[in-house]
Amino acid sequence: MDSLPRHIGVIMDGNGRWAKLRGLKRIEGHRRGAERAKDIIRVSLDIGIEVLTLYAFSIENWQRPDDEVSTLMELLEVYLSTELIDLIQEGIRFRVIGNKEKLPEQIQHIINRAEELTKDNNKLTLVLALSYSGRDEILRAIRRLLSSGVRPEEISESTFENHLDTAGLPPVDLIIRTSGEMRISNFLLWQGAYAELYFTETLWPDFTKDEFLLAIQDYQRRERRFGTVLST
Ligand code: IPE
Ligand code: IPE
Ligand code: MG
Repeated sequence: MDSLPRHIGVIMDGNGRWAKLRGLKRIEGHRRGAERAKDIIRVSLDIGIEVLTLYAFSIENWQRPDDEVSTLMELLEVYLSTELIDLIQEGIRFRVIGNKEKLPEQIQHIINRAEELTKDNNKLTLVLALSYSGRDEILRAIRRLLSSGVRPEEISESTFENHLDTAGLPPVDLIIRTSGEMRISNFLLWQGAYAELYFTETLWPDFTKDEFLLAIQDYQRRERRFGTVLST
């Protein structure tokens, strides 16, 4: 099996530790991390990945100290507004998954504009998971389903998926997590049911394009069985 994963999810972890190791403030790690995200978006576009989902901020991350949260939001605002033109020009479709209502209004506004302006682009779909958690996404989907007046027997996997934030996107094939932690931390719980997992000790600000390609090669050597027996 050497086909490319259609959908790659990345848990970009280790920014704080990267900064601490250098005697820098955590936000410097986030700043460097944003640069790495740009590299990974570029290579995904170049090699023809269909969907790249980057976990940038979890619902649980709102519980961090106020100054870290507010500087992260400032960084996000600058990043989104400066990168938007490039996204449009590169043919990238931009989308955000997560509980957008919890985000500062100015950021919601930029996100809505970016989603609208890039909606007809058809190269890479770049998904940012912001104020996101898999459990919260599933609960919001259930609420939407119930308020649509659906009958219990009408609920299938596909009708349910259509109410998730990721509606219309293929399931995630490969989830990469940096920084040595071997957990999912509430990322794409439903969509990742059969994802292949790739863990690396590398801290996110040190994660290179070459290591991303290595993770993809590793994925290409996996045998995905989806619970069945492969014919020999
Ligand atoms: C990941 O890096 C970025 C976010 C969660 C926003 P961390 O900030 O979690 O960095 P560590 O895990 O503390 O090193
Ligand atoms: C997961 O990292 C969330 C993001 C990378 C955005 P965390 O650093 O928040 O996760 P835990 O606390 O180690 O599980
Ligand atoms: Mg972390």
